Amino acid sequence: MNSNLFGDYQKLLHVDVMGQQVEVPENNTLLRGLQFHAPETISYGRFCWNGTCNNCTVTVNDSGCESKGRACRLAASDGMHVTSVSSEIRRLL
Ligand code: FES
Repeated sequence: MNSNLFGDYQKLLHVDVMGQQVEVPENNTLLRGLQFHAPETISYGRFCWNGTCNNCTVTVNDSGCESKGRACRLAASDGMHVTSVSSEIRRLL
């Protein structure tokens, strides 16, 4: 995998994706993080990577408050709790 896809990182963050613990590089979007975790599948998904297709929609629970967003636009953060993902992401993880 081309490591130039990812922003510079020194450590991995821990993200819960519907009960699955995933390590993703800091300083990257959630979708890049998922690609880091599952490069053989996410890399070939139907994603625009620029915020227009909506194939990367996720729901994030932040201290009991749920909000929807696009994984290609959301910065991954340590302890992030993703409670739902688009059918495209689910198909690939
Ligand atoms: S990948 Fe298309 S909106 Fe995120």
